[in-house]
Amino acid sequence: MIDGMSSSGVTPAPGPTHIAPGCCGLLQLCQPGFVAINTIHCQPQYVDRFRDLFGSRAHAIDRIPGFLGMYVLEPKTEGEAYLVVSHWVNEAAFDSWTGSEEFLEGHRRAFEDMRLAKERGEEPPMKSEFRTYSLLTT
Ligand code: HEM
Repeated sequence: MIDGMSSSGVTPAPGPTHIAPGCCGLLQLCQPGFVAINTIHCQPQYVDRFRDLFGSRAHAIDRIPGFLGMYVLEPKTEGEAYLVVSHWVNEAAFDSWTGSEEFLEGHRRAFEDMRLAKERGEEPPMKSEFRTYSLLTT
């Protein structure tokens, strides 16, 4: 039980499944950190597929040394961007993932959907842009 949760009457969500072993908690700082945020705009007709992909994602990233955890944030307002927030021990760890087989494995279905849409001459189902941050404080 997380401190403060029971006394406030808030029931915690079922146990975390996506926090890398050794991390004290997602985006809770146990060491200096680096954060990469991918901002994804989905075509409205692709949202269900997008949610399914993330609901059954590869977790290949979990094998990358220095990966601490991630969040996928869904907008409260329809049509706004999803945010994929990933937390790393440092920038080198993030860079090693983006150049890895695990990156491709984690994106196989998404990139195939993009490829097929292009092949059909359609708009891409997603548009994505990422930015990187160092953790100033929590
Ligand atoms: C064209 C660029 C990108 C698109 C369209 C995209 C979209 C997606 C989608 C739909 C998934 C769900 C998994 C699946 O494919 O089945 C995924 C996985 C993921 N994406 Fe991306 N992504 C892109 C690039 C990036 C970048 C640059 C980052 C980081 C800054 C990122 C962070 C992640 C993470 C952390 C996962 C989970 C991987 C895993 O479970 O192993 N993505 N992405």
